[in-house]
Order: sequence, then C-alpha cells, then structure tokens
Amino acid sequence: MDNKYVINWEKYASLARQAAAEGAVLLKNDHRALPLGEETVSVFGRIQFHYYKSGTGSGGLVNTKYVVSINDALQEEENLTVNEELAEVYRSWIAEHPFDQGSGWAQEPWSQEEMPLDEKLVREAASKSDAAVVVIGRTAGEDRDASADKGSYLLTDLEEDMLDQVCRAFKRVIVVLNVGNIIDMKWVEKYNPSAVLYTWQGGQEGGHSVADVLTGRVNPCGKLADTIARDISDYPSTENFGGETSDIYAEDIYVGYRYFETFAKDKVLYPFGFGMSYTDFRVDCSPAVHQDGETTVRVKVTNTGTFAGKEVVQVYVNPPQGKLGKPFRNLAAFAKTKCLSPGETQELVLTFTDYYISSYDDSGVTGHKSCYVLEQGRYEIFTGTDVRSAQAAGSFEAAETMVASVCTEAAGPVQKFKRMRAGEGSALAWEEVPVRRYKMQERVQKETFPDITYTGDKGYTLGEVFDGEISMEEFLAQLSEEDLCCIVRGEGMCSPKVTPGTAAAFGGVTESLQKFGIPCGCCADGPSGIRMDCGTPAFSMPNGTCLACTFDTELSEKLYEMEGAELRKNRIDTLLGPGINIHRNPLNGRNFEYFSEDPYLTGVMASAQLKGMSQYGVTGTIKHFAANNQEYHRRLLDSVMSERALREIYLRGFEIAVKEGNAYSVMTTYGAINGLWTAGNYDLLTTILRKEWHFDGMVMTDWWADLNDEGGPASTDNLAAMVRSQNDVYMVTKDSLTNRDNLMESLKKGVLKRGALLRCAGNICRMLIKSPVMERTLGRMSEEEQLAGEVMAGEDKVDFHITYHKVDGSLTLDGTHIDTSKGKSVVYGILLDTFGSYTVRLKVKAEGGKLAQIPVSVFANGHLEGTVTINGTNGEWIEIEKTIGPLFGPHNYVRLYFAQGGMEIQTVTIQLQEEMDRGF
Ligand code: BGC
Repeated sequence: MDNKYVINWEKYASLARQAAAEGAVLLKNDHRALPLGEETVSVFGRIQFHYYKSGTGSGGLVNTKYVVSINDALQEEENLTVNEELAEVYRSWIAEHPFDQGSGWAQEPWSQEEMPLDEKLVREAASKSDAAVVVIGRTAGEDRDASADKGSYLLTDLEEDMLDQVCRAFKRVIVVLNVGNIIDMKWVEKYNPSAVLYTWQGGQEGGHSVADVLTGRVNPCGKLADTIARDISDYPSTENFGGETSDIYAEDIYVGYRYFETFAKDKVLYPFGFGMSYTDFRVDCSPAVHQDGETTVRVKVTNTGTFAGKEVVQVYVNPPQGKLGKPFRNLAAFAKTKCLSPGETQELVLTFTDYYISSYDDSGVTGHKSCYVLEQGRYEIFTGTDVRSAQAAGSFEAAETMVASVCTEAAGPVQKFKRMRAGEGSALAWEEVPVRRYKMQERVQKETFPDITYTGDKGYTLGEVFDGEISMEEFLAQLSEEDLCCIVRGEGMCSPKVTPGTAAAFGGVTESLQKFGIPCGCCADGPSGIRMDCGTPAFSMPNGTCLACTFDTELSEKLYEMEGAELRKNRIDTLLGPGINIHRNPLNGRNFEYFSEDPYLTGVMASAQLKGMSQYGVTGTIKHFAANNQEYHRRLLDSVMSERALREIYLRGFEIAVKEGNAYSVMTTYGAINGLWTAGNYDLLTTILRKEWHFDGMVMTDWWADLNDEGGPASTDNLAAMVRSQNDVYMVTKDSLTNRDNLMESLKKGVLKRGALLRCAGNICRMLIKSPVMERTLGRMSEEEQLAGEVMAGEDKVDFHITYHKVDGSLTLDGTHIDTSKGKSVVYGILLDTFGSYTVRLKVKAEGGKLAQIPVSVFANGHLEGTVTINGTNGEWIEIEKTIGPLFGPHNYVRLYFAQGGMEIQTVTIQLQEEMDRGF
C-alpha cells in the first residue's frame, strides 16, 4: 500500500545527496582537471575522515544515524583507486590526534589540527597517483562567530604548508572545501591548484555528494549565494562587525554584491551567482518586456559542451539612481534548467513585479515618504549566469516616479549616523540617516482591542472552533487572566508535555488550558534536520547556504516535503527554521543556517521549504526576525540601521516567506533593532508584520530572550512588552504556572490590557488549529497515519513517553535491566531543581582480561560528553564516571550508548557536582 506517512528513507537520502551535490560550487577547473576519471587519487587533509555535516549550536545538534565522510564515499567509487597507504598514514595520525570537540556549548574549535606532511610522503604519493584531492574543513555556529584569524577565516600554517607541498608535487590538485561560511581565498593565487570546489556542509549524505561531483556523476551546477571578496576587510560591514553593544549598519543597503558591483568591482575574487560546470552553455536572451507592473524575460539556454548539465539563469535590474541612489545590480529573478544533454536547448521564462524592484524612501526625498517607489528613469535588465557577466537584456522606462506600495514609517533609527549611498557618477558617498521622531510607545498605547468580555467557562472547546461551531471570540472569552498569562508562556527545553528532547511546548501547557481542549504544540530545531536532545535519531540535511547555492526551489521543496513527513512522524508541529537572516558578513557564525547575502534568493528558498513542509500539514518557524547577523554578544547587541536597509535587505526575505511561502510561525531574535529588543518591538511585529504583510500566525521569542520598553532596560521578565507588541509566546519557561514575570502585575496596574493577551491567545490558537496536534488531540488522526506509525514501529519507532527521575542532589538507579549489547542505548529522563554540572557514575563489570576494550558513551541532552572505555574486569565490579553538563533546565536526558557489547551495569548514579547559575 502506498502510505505517504511511511518515510522512504532511501528517497530522503537520495534527495539530500542530490541537493548537496547540486549546491557545490566549482570555482576553478584548469585544463578540465575535474571530473576524475578511472585513476588513482591521493587524498590529503584530515577532514576527509570527519565530514562537517553542519555548523555548531542548536542548528547542528541533529542525532544522525550516520554521516558519510569524503573518504568513505571515495572508497566506494568503483572506478577510482584511493591511495590507501596515504590514507593509512592519516588514520594512524588521527588515532593519536583525535577530533577535538571542545567541551560544552559553543566550544568546538573552528578547525582541527592538520597532519604535518613530510616531503617524502608527498613525493611518494605523487609518484603513485594521477591527482591529489585536498580537503579543508571549517565550522562555526551559534554563540561562536568565525574570526578573521588563522584556523577560521584564514588557513592555518599547516594547511598552507599542505597546499604548498601538494601543489608542488602534483600536476592536478583539487581542493575541496567542507565549510559553513566563505573563507579567505587568496591562497588560490598563491598555490594555484587546478580545481577548487566549495561543497559547504551537506548534511549526513555530504560525503557522497562530494564524490558525485568529483567523479562527474553530477555535473556541478551550484552558484555562489555570496560574493567572495579578496580580503575580509573588503566587506563593508567588517568595520563595524563584532561590537559589544551596538553594530552600525553604515553600509546600508549596499550588502554583498550590491556594494561590490556598485563601488568596488576590483575587490571581487568570485562574483555572486558564479559557478562553473563541466560543460558549456550559451544563453540567448530576447529583450525584456515590461507590462502592467511586471517584467518578463525569455531566455534560451543551450548546452554547447560535451557533458549533460544544468545551468542557472539570473536576472538583475539596474535601476536609475534617482534621488535615493541604488545598487547597480539587484537580483530580480532566477531559474534553473533541467539537465540538458549536449546540444539540447531549453527556454526559460522569468518574471518579476515592480514591487520587488522598487526602493523604500525613508527620508521623503522623492516626495513619497514611507513608500516603496519606482523612481523615474530607465530600468536596465541584465541576464546571465553570474552578477558580473550578466549582459544587457533590454530595459524599460518609468516616465514618472510611481508608488508601488504605501507603508507606515516603522522601526527606524533613533541615533544619528552616516550611511553609504551612491553619489554623483556612482561615487561612494555618505549621507545623514533619517531618524525616527515619533515614540513607538505612543503607538503601543493607542492600540485598541476587540471587546471580548470574560464569560467564564461555558464548556466550549477549541475543537468546536476548529469545527466551525463557535467563533474564536466566544471561545477565548472563557479564558481567565491566569489562563491567558499561561498561554503566552511556552515551556522547555525538553518539556515532557511534547515529544521528548524537543525545544518547546506551546499552547495548552497547563491543565486548565487543556480542559478547554487547547493542545500542546511542539517545536524543535531546525533548520537542517530535527534536534531531539534525548538522542532520537533524525535526518541531517544540507545547510541553508548549500541549498541556496543550488538556486533550485523545486528541489528544496521536495527535500523539505521529506522533512515534513519526518516532523509529522515525530509529532512536531513546527521546525525552528528556515533561518532567513542575511549573510551580511562572512564571519557570522550562523551563516550556515541562513541562505545568502541576497534577500530575494533567501525569501524564495525559504518559501520553497515552507511549501514542502506544508504537504504534511506542518510548518517552519522563520527566524530570526530580524537582523540576527552576529553571534558575539547577541543578547546585548543593538543593530542600528536605516529603515530602508531594514526593509529592503533584512526584512525582505521574511516578507517573501510570509506573502509567498505562507509562513505562519515566526521567531524573533535575542538582540535589539534601533534600541528596541525585537521580542517586544511593536513596529516590527505589529506595524510591519501584521498590519502591512497581513501575517495572522504566531510569533515566539528566541529562547530566554530579553525584552524592553522603548528607552528602558532589557530583561527576561518584561513579558508585558512582549504581549503588547504581539510577540505571542515567550520561549521558554520552566513552568508556565509559576514563571516569574510582570504579566499579572501589569494587568493589575492597567498597563497591560486583557485584550492584548486575548489577541496573542487568538494567534496561538489559530496556529494550533492549523497544526497536526489539533486533529490528533481530537482523536481524528487518519487511519493511514496511524498505520504508518505501526509500519515504522521497529527501528524508527519514536518513544513519545520517557519517565523522568527526580535528582535531589543524588539519585541511584538500578542498572541490571539495561541491554548493553552492541549498538544499544538507554535513555534516562532526569528532572533537576539544581542546575550545574553533574557526575554520572556507573558500577560496571566485564568479562575478559586487560586487553578487552569495552566502551560506553555518555550523552547529556544529545551532546556527547565522552566515552569511557574499560578493559575486562575479570568479573570484578568497578566504578567509572563522567562529568556532564552544565545542565540548566529542569528536564534533561542522559543516554548511555554501547558501541561494543560486553559490559554489565549494576547501578547508575547521577549526582550534583557543582551548582551553577545561568545568570539570566
Ligand atoms: C537559538 C534558536 C533556537 C533556540 C532553540 C536559541 O539559542 O538562537 O535559533 O531555535 O535556541 O534551540
């Protein structure tokens, strides 16, 4: 039977593999060094054995069943011979220099120590093989920006030495970059390898994808989603990046290629949109046609080479400079061909509307303040396969300045600063930014709410709203003040009210709310696979940047349809992603979770993912709204920017995801925009998101976020500011009933209206009504879905119920029942009052003598804390222990994994080692 809820893991893996391969970007391929043929290759670089499937932090914590390394994948190739002697040298060296994970959150180093090479080894390898592949890897992530230093943005001395030696000894050297962010590329000129391939972080199938491209099974068709400049200092945001309390967005809308193509063409090493193929294409374009507010471009793409392959056509607009000044190139549309055989032609039709090429006038200089305008003048269209080489493809003339949309001034800066703009003859000029003169607080106070009088419990349930029997207003009228305060407090991490190990529960978090039939919705990280800290395995996807580089929305949609099925299976209503922040600077640690420096590409890729997931009735929470562009001091950082930059660059991707991707769940950020923390930023969340974009879903804070009132200090307890701005849910509290915040007190004082809480409650309930949890709670799960649960029961069974054991200082559990055979694991839910580090102590024994090696790995909340290997104890009981944590939430998981059978466990003791306070 064809049951759509039964996950086809093979299809999942093959789509992910295809996506990661098609996201790989070939930057150089001298003398057709690639693809590899039937030959012997020597593979250098330790990262060939440890593939970075993703960056670090919440977006990287997917417990995968496997990760294919580049070495694994190349070994599988039938036509290729991998220089095994060299591989063996690496293996022995790695055994002595194991992968350094760092200890704890955000501590994994950006790179790993590289194996020093001696000349003899390289010479011998060269004498035995036809080509060399050099693998270089990097990571970065949440709470840990990359740095402009060696080992992060720059190569280490040992990596340089590796390139130097290998490039001197081999004629054909192919460099493969397994990185989340762009890195410095000056070394290409210096060592001149034959080929360079950015493969990003491609998820658990990543190694296979690399092999697919290297061998030509997949003809590279990825395009850069970011500009690669010569030096980090060439990016205009670098000067202000890394601040402790504020970051001035002086470059304004001139981000990425918008800056380079306008002011600094010569600083570009590889332009936005660039990527080579093993074949050649001819792109013939007929002149663009502009009619009724829409431009259409017809392009014929012909494969003129000898390999089958795909090509990406990009359409850019060069608008008139007018009074506002504009970037010379703005991506307006793109499309990817199917796989064209040699000689084959495909016609692509690309369209875009005036709105998306208009500019926001935040000063009133055009006579249309707070409007999107198409200034009078000539709009030139360029079409091609990267931003630099795109050719003129017609133009249209706006006879007079036209208003594309009328908006309300919102969220602008209060602080004066000078912003970049294109001046006379396109010279780089600076102008004073227009500052906000109104008080946002006054807008907040003027808000009116529907008059819903409290009725008390009338016996109505949310199910009746769902069935259209009563109105949402009638339903909400029953909720008491306490209910309303609780519903805006999400619970987590790892709430026992939803799927174990996930990030949060929202909605029916108390018994009283559940009595009204309000279910508990579940959300889990995201964006590139599901994070379940109790250790439940999930599929790890190619990262955002990699998917953006495919320029293939269809493929992303298909892939995220699989993600949708997986979310559904795990009873998760929303994935915490896609990440829609802009790659403003290559050093942002979370760039891997985000797509691109371009907001249009970002928006359409995100929409594709949302559409994919919606096939299973689930969704994604688009995050982080907005301008989460630096991890350092992320809770304190105020992003200071013009309203124009905010709207045209930093909000645009979200706008597209809301309007075209039907996003109905949004996460705000930790930091502030123009002095107001986003989680309580009325203009951002009400004026723009709801009133302009007509978003009617739910907004949640980032985890333990701060909030403030205009001009006031930020704290985690100002939930009244959150509710007034329509950030509906605070993520996360330990217990919504006892959370300490200012909600009740604000209601009493009259500074928070019941109506404001009702409005948030309505947003939350509407989200729940759209989510699978609603029907499931009503007992209406389809037979097909129930059956799928049974079919997948074996290996893929999800354990929705974990028993929690309370640890009061110390707890000892019986371990005699634990199945310690090879590949098995056991999970304990532990409930803590005291936060800090803990010791896990096991009383164990093993048959066999000194030479037997029996490991047990200890995980806390999905993080590997370490592996203790015992030797045979000849039947004697011994004690072993491992420190875990720090653990900061009440609900945690300890998992013991047995990679090798043979251990017997008598007791498992979990004991407080050191009490710690999180500090917020
Ligand atoms: C991150 C979010 C994430 C959340 C839950 C936060 O630290 O910034 O992106 O979704 O944690 O894990």
